[in-house]
Amino acid sequence: MIEAAKPDEIIVSRRRILLAAGWAGIGIFVTTLLSAIARFFFPRTIIEPPTRYKIGYPPQYSEGVSERFKKQFRIWIVREVNRLYVIEAKCTHLGCTPNWLAAEGKFKCPCHGSGFTPDGINIEGPAPRPLERFKVALDADGQIIVDEAIRFRGERGEWEKAGAFLKV
Ligand code: FES
Repeated sequence: MIEAAKPDEIIVSRRRILLAAGWAGIGIFVTTLLSAIARFFFPRTIIEPPTRYKIGYPPQYSEGVSERFKKQFRIWIVREVNRLYVIEAKCTHLGCTPNWLAAEGKFKCPCHGSGFTPDGINIEGPAPRPLERFKVALDADGQIIVDEAIRFRGERGEWEKAGAFLKV
């Protein structure tokens, strides 16, 4: 025969349930509070590569196209007889990264076949305009500084502007 719970036992088990629920609520509150504090001190940030950086000294670049910083900064450094400039390695069609084909003397985009001359002029494929160039300047110690925040576009006649190239 099963005995019915006495009223005192029912009250004790209700108290336990209420106590457990109370502790659970406090636990949730404290966890939420701690995660909010953690988010305050360690906010979510996106680490992006710098937009201004040094790439060495002009004499380190011989005539032609240098791929020294293509992987790191997605740029080519082009040295002509008496000037040096920096081209962004980004196709002006849909943004793929072209390849420098030294044997053919041109940049070729693997996505849809656009081609560019060594100075970045579009000569084949769907690219609607030349590759863009970044601002270059010399630091106090003579190193080349690239500033990606300032661009020069050939179709706008900006490649002859101050900052679009360095005299070497
Ligand atoms: S993205 Fe380069 S040709 Fe289309």
